[in-house]
Amino acid sequence: MREDARDAALRVNEERLWLRHAEMAKIGAIPGNGVNRAALSREDIAARKLLLSWAVQRSFTVSIDAIGNLFVRRAGSEANAAPVMTGSHMDSQPRGGRFDGIYGVLAGLEALEAMNEAGVTTRRPIEVVAWTNEEGGRFAPCTMGSMVFTGARPLADVLDVTDNEGIKLRDALAETLAATPLATKREFNSPVAGYIEAHIEQGPLLENAGKTVGVVTGIQGLRWFNIEVSGKTDHAGTTPLALRKDAMRDAVAIINALTELTDDPADVTRFTVGRMLVTPNSPNSVASHVLFSVDVRHPDPQTIKRLGEAVEPLARKAAKHCDVKVTPTLRDDPCVFDADVTNAVEAAAKGLELTHMRLSSGASHDAMYMARVCPTGMIFVPCEKGVSHNEAENATSADLAAGARVLTAALVELANR
Ligand code: GLV
Ligand code: MN
Ligand code: MN
Repeated sequence: MREDARDAALRVNEERLWLRHAEMAKIGAIPGNGVNRAALSREDIAARKLLLSWAVQRSFTVSIDAIGNLFVRRAGSEANAAPVMTGSHMDSQPRGGRFDGIYGVLAGLEALEAMNEAGVTTRRPIEVVAWTNEEGGRFAPCTMGSMVFTGARPLADVLDVTDNEGIKLRDALAETLAATPLATKREFNSPVAGYIEAHIEQGPLLENAGKTVGVVTGIQGLRWFNIEVSGKTDHAGTTPLALRKDAMRDAVAIINALTELTDDPADVTRFTVGRMLVTPNSPNSVASHVLFSVDVRHPDPQTIKRLGEAVEPLARKAAKHCDVKVTPTLRDDPCVFDADVTNAVEAAAKGLELTHMRLSSGASHDAMYMARVCPTGMIFVPCEKGVSHNEAENATSADLAAGARVLTAALVELANR
């Protein structure tokens, strides 16, 4: 390992990193130790302001793009060289934990501070990015900020997405941008030399294997759909079943058919219906409309393609009484990370004498979109019992610091290439 990479890594301050997690966890705190920090909400704005205050204290420069992705830059000796980037997201699930996303942002900031304290200069600038709306819990789809930054989808395409309250993304975004009026505006798709994202594993593999660092090799494929079932509302007590167009009954039939489609004795396929809106949503009225989300995942490209293509015909066949509209909202093919970045992460873990293993990610991350535009990799640290998207999500201060050290060393390495 380069000496300057080691010096910087050893300057990572475990206590500072832990205290910053605690500070961030106060924003949107919910009972059970969790956080609810929806994208582009008042809480998201507060988290952005806190991050900016820490960045400015260190005289790092900050910029923002038109979808609200925030960038914190530590200069390199070649001012105009394409930066190496790290980061993750600050939004959370409605009942999210204190580490999903925010760890990658705070570990990135810690890496920049550690480099300052070690007096390390890198050839390329290094930037920490806080991506807008990674979770997609309020505005679907997920990984929206990186998707738009990398040009995978135009901004105009997502501006009219609405949340459950009918608020448009364009309005929430305008409020967020007005609350953080940064002088420097960032263009989408500006060149990036490499990207490394640190994250809690969100699964049990590292903990079970007793390893501290996960060298992430890629991310499984994903399909999202909205399925809208439209029937007719009627009196629950008086309307014979034969006369009904019960949207809930058809929604249940569709979900049962999809459960059968995705049944997998090997337990590799993932199938989730996590969101359902029922109209009129009254116990004694037959449902006229049911809108629900479908999330299907698999690491094998052929399998995820087959499953994704089966959703619409199966939903139409299963619905016996109502109209069905199937709208695909996200299609991410499985992604394999860059060998050079993966090797740099592994070499950093080895050089710092941390136990490590290679593994693939079950969760989606912004790294998936960055992998389309630059050499990309990820670092995982263990989380307690693999629990995530849950208030009880937990990780140890020592593991978080270890992951930040690996990140720091790998960033110094890549930023000098
Ligand atoms: C991100 O949180 C995902 O849905 O995998
Ligand atoms: Mn995340
Ligand atoms: Mn998440």
